[in-house]
Amino acid sequence: MSVRTPPRAEAMIDLDAVRHNVALLAERAARSGAATMAVVKADGYGHGATEVAMAALSAGATWLGACSLAEGLSLRAAGIDAPVLSWLDVPGEDLAPGVAAGIDLSASSLDELTAVRQAARGVDRTARVHLKIDTGLSRNGCPAAEWPDLLEAAAAAEAEGSVEVVAIWSHLACADEPGHPSIDRQAERFAEAYRAARAAGLRPKRHLANSAATLTRPDLHFDLVRTGIAIYGLNPVPQHEDLRPAMTFRSSVVLTKRVAAGEGVSYGHTWLTPQETTLALVPVGYADGVPRSLSGRMEVWLAGRRRPVVGRVCMDQIVVDCGDDAVAVGDEVILFGPGDRGEPTAREWADTLGTIDYEIVTGMHRPRVGRRYLGVRPGTSPEAVRVAATEGGP
Ligand SMILES: Cc1ncc(COP(=O)(O)O)c(C=O)c1O
Repeated sequence: MSVRTPPRAEAMIDLDAVRHNVALLAERAARSGAATMAVVKADGYGHGATEVAMAALSAGATWLGACSLAEGLSLRAAGIDAPVLSWLDVPGEDLAPGVAAGIDLSASSLDELTAVRQAARGVDRTARVHLKIDTGLSRNGCPAAEWPDLLEAAAAAEAEGSVEVVAIWSHLACADEPGHPSIDRQAERFAEAYRAARAAGLRPKRHLANSAATLTRPDLHFDLVRTGIAIYGLNPVPQHEDLRPAMTFRSSVVLTKRVAAGEGVSYGHTWLTPQETTLALVPVGYADGVPRSLSGRMEVWLAGRRRPVVGRVCMDQIVVDCGDDAVAVGDEVILFGPGDRGEPTAREWADTLGTIDYEIVTGMHRPRVGRRYLGVRPGTSPEAVRVAATEGGP
């Protein structure tokens, strides 16, 4: 029997958790008659876009969301033929491969619509486009003043057959603060934008809700919800939801040593051993996604309990104080996980750092951090293929 070498650094992704979360969200959306998009941009928020996409599609999602066209095309290259919306392309980018691959594109301006139209003519296909209205996030999206011109041009493009206006859409600024007045204001502006689109002769679908609005505002589900963070099991709203975090970041002990009282530990000697103690060395550092600013402010789960990481987080290593407890080389070290056993969570790191858990998990796409998938369904390519490749282990 082969014994698996303990991981140097590994993000374990529980695809059963992803399926559970997607099923929960898709059920909420379906109650309002809406379809569910799984947002898998940024390599599936650091969890692996293809694997998450496959799991999500098997659990009730029928759409996928990507930021860049390259992300959308990589889903197609993996053999996924579900509808994909790619929403932030850069000026001058060649959109033709996207149109040819049947990827839905977004347009926030006349220039963007023109680029989509030209790409469609170039490959002699009708491009599927979603017109984005800025309802108050003031990021991308068409300003209200330019919306009538965009609608007119889109209607003309639809009439000539180069474009099909699939939907109008927008994005909420404060959905994670239920009751925030901007939500209703954005919803009103979205309603106005929709009325204008209908008046221009278009018959688009509508989508507005992210995870937070999917959980808290069924009246804003419309035809499609775009769920990101919640499919990864991280809850964006204050209320309890039965979501399961999918990512566990783990490593293992590579060296233990007894150290006398009064010795300095790690760079700068910011921590001194208060008494003789056992230190455990763990081969992960800020190059592997452990922020240096967590130095002196983090714990890990090791040998059955939480233990403090002492001294500075280095580029490649951290040191854990284990007191007089028995710890051994090869023991598993959990940096963060779902929290079920009492281990730290990505949310805990985020709270300590003054950020959001999105940033923590998305930042786990690191060259030295392997990925291991749990809950893989045998034979479901490309999941199976990718897992076979990662099983070799870091
Ligand atoms: C346009 C758009 N829609 C939907 C989402 C998903 O949001 P969330 O991860 O909060 O569900 C994002 C993510 O940032 C987004 O940029």
